[in-house]
Amino acid sequence: MQVDEGTVVLGIETSCDETAAAVVMGGTDVLSSVVSSQIDIHAKFGGVVPEVASRAHLELIQPVVTEAIDAAGIVPERIDAVAVTVGPGLMGALLVGVSAAKAMAYGLNKPLVGVNHLEAHLYAGLLDDPHLQFPAVVLLVSGGNTLLLHMPAPGEYSLLGATIDDAAGEAFDKIARFLDIGYPGGPAIDAAATRGNRTSIDFPRAMMHDGLDFSFSGLKTAVINHVRKNPDVSSDDVAASFQAAVVDVLVAKTMKAARQVEARSIVLGGGVAANSQLRADMTAAGEAEGFAVALPSRAMCTDNAAMIAAAGWYRLRDHGPSTLDIGAVPNLALVANTVRTNRAAHR
Ligand code: KG4
Repeated sequence: MQVDEGTVVLGIETSCDETAAAVVMGGTDVLSSVVSSQIDIHAKFGGVVPEVASRAHLELIQPVVTEAIDAAGIVPERIDAVAVTVGPGLMGALLVGVSAAKAMAYGLNKPLVGVNHLEAHLYAGLLDDPHLQFPAVVLLVSGGNTLLLHMPAPGEYSLLGATIDDAAGEAFDKIARFLDIGYPGGPAIDAAATRGNRTSIDFPRAMMHDGLDFSFSGLKTAVINHVRKNPDVSSDDVAASFQAAVVDVLVAKTMKAARQVEARSIVLGGGVAANSQLRADMTAAGEAEGFAVALPSRAMCTDNAAMIAAAGWYRLRDHGPSTLDIGAVPNLALVANTVRTNRAAHR
């Protein structure tokens, strides 16, 4: 199949608590992007309940896909391929999207392409800024992952560093729950931190000078111990000091990686990339050293299907379609992709 600027991909995303569909042309032109969040449904449980998420996806998937196609101003027959998240994520939730995508692809007689959710996050920056300069270093910080990646060109990437324990977003969520300041934890800490003093408590910056991996579980324990020993401490000061400890490490390691691979840009991705302190500090650090810092819009940082359709376009171009018997893979890993590098070497 010819994959070019006119190729229209329908993307479907149901890996966690967002039911999303989008139509993207040529890998970067977003014709529509619809996201239906289940945050309100899960808030009363203080976290995502997998079975509840699957049922909500089941109710929402058809209207969300229909809305995305209508909003794109196309007829379903104009879709050239259907891309869907196959992992990582919650098994029941993923299965709803994978089944819907298979039905769409089969019914329209168009190719299906399975997409790794983490790989898709790498394309979110490119959707907001199609003129992004490569090589880039991508910091992917979400509820389930903290990854530092080298992206020499779209479609090519390799892993530079990752968390050895908790993900950054997981630390935000656990500390917010401990402080009892709201759900989801990241935005709650972000808001509390604006009222607190970030230098009031000197929490540890783990592995600050060791390579490009991260560790956040010791910080979490340090925060809990500090609050237990100082029950009258201000939650706002704890939030601000905790956030500063996370952000300092994320910024320092990203800058180290950017210098190491001689990057031209730094790109943030994942839910934690919405953090206001991280955005401000990364921009300042990048400017000071001459790296362009791409801050995807908040809508592009969090889960959406436009990035799935974009990743699907590149995957289709470089690897071709998936077979209709693909399944959902809850613990799917991000495997370095060097297809285009090899291809260039053979030219
Ligand atoms: O990428 P994402 O939407 O989904 C998954 O990881 O599945 O990321 C969600 C994570 C949560 O841990 C949430 O607390 C965090 O991103 N988050 C934030 C902010 N907004 C969302 N963390 C820090 N500051 C924020 N403003």
